[in-house]
Amino acid sequence: MVTRVLFVCLGNICRSPMAEGVFRAMAEREGLEAEVDSAATGDWHTGDPPYPPAITAAAARGYDIANQRARQVRRGDFDRFDHVLAMDGSNYDKLSALCPMDAKADLRMLMEYAPETDRDTVPDPYYTGDFEEALDLIEAGVEGLLAELQR
Ligand code: 4NP
Repeated sequence: MVTRVLFVCLGNICRSPMAEGVFRAMAEREGLEAEVDSAATGDWHTGDPPYPPAITAAAARGYDIANQRARQVRRGDFDRFDHVLAMDGSNYDKLSALCPMDAKADLRMLMEYAPETDRDTVPDPYYTGDFEEALDLIEAGVEGLLAELQR
């Protein structure tokens, strides 16, 4: 059965596109049949490619995210996807408010899947400039999520 996973952040040009790329590569490597996408809570960057420093940092670790394009999350996503992962608490609160009561999706913070990091949030590299920190946390979260999906 195909598992459908959606990563969500504020702009869909830094954290969630990197998470989409990391998940796609790791799921493929592990032979998991999955569909992955990413989206923004905001609408400022609809149609834009990822922020160039995100593309560069991801490429350095072997993740090609250059052809992804930003879009805003919509209510229908909660029925299309099995798992919706928020990067921070603000994303989570916005998603929670948008999510229909009877939605199929399981909405969680990505960092719930990486308890060993002692972090509950992926700090926004658009503001911190720290794309390596964001990628470290995203890789840890995606590894934990994949382990859970393969149980
Ligand atoms: P992201 O970072 O949520 O990780 O994609 C951001 C990128 C752009 C903006 C905010 C956050 N912005 O306000 O333009």
